[in-house]
Amino acid sequence: MEGLDRSGKTTQTQKLCEHLQRTNTVKLIKFPDRTTPIGKMIDAYLRSQSELDDRAIHLLFSANRWECAGTIEAELRAGNTVICDRYAFSGVAFSASKSSLSYEWCKAPDISLPAPDAVVFLDISPEVAQQRGGYGEERYEKEEMQRTVRQIFRKIETDTAQANGHIIWATIDASGTLDEVQQRIQKAVEPLNGGITGEIQRLWM
Ligand code: TMP
Repeated sequence: MEGLDRSGKTTQTQKLCEHLQRTNTVKLIKFPDRTTPIGKMIDAYLRSQSELDDRAIHLLFSANRWECAGTIEAELRAGNTVICDRYAFSGVAFSASKSSLSYEWCKAPDISLPAPDAVVFLDISPEVAQQRGGYGEERYEKEEMQRTVRQIFRKIETDTAQANGHIIWATIDASGTLDEVQQRIQKAVEPLNGGITGEIQRLWM
């Protein structure tokens, strides 16, 4: 599950989880995982309690996924459903919105992570996002940056289709009511309800 800040992503992810739990064992993983030593460094950076080089923070976000990659694979092998609240797509979109980092450089550390079967991107205009509560609390919650992030997500969608044609990419309008948006999300992931067979695919390979 991906989206701009204040797109309602965390609430919608939780609801999707509850919905899928009726029929599957579901593991929900939130990135960044702020509980690990790496996650604590990320958390301090996001809350502007520490300063880090743009490359260093990008690599920490990626390392935070890699430290969980084994768990994700184990869950998938056990036949469980894994839902990630943000993943490598956020990693690229947010970092590459900084003028200091190139798009290709940002992709590199996440290449070959376990690939998702579907990406749900909750799309919202930065203007609407800004009106929602709490906007501006964390480092990246600035309208101009969110605008660039949104554009980069569109590029990632095209790129991912080329490299991983099997991934369902659903861009969902996140501006309706909670229930309306949830219905759209559930419909988008319906094709996966029968389960996935075969090898775990690798991202951007
Ligand atoms: P959150 O609000 O979903 O906890 O995400 C925290 C912020 O971190 C959000 O602004 C997006 C950003 N982010 C990155 O810059 N790179 C990443 O790899 C991830 C997972 C999040």
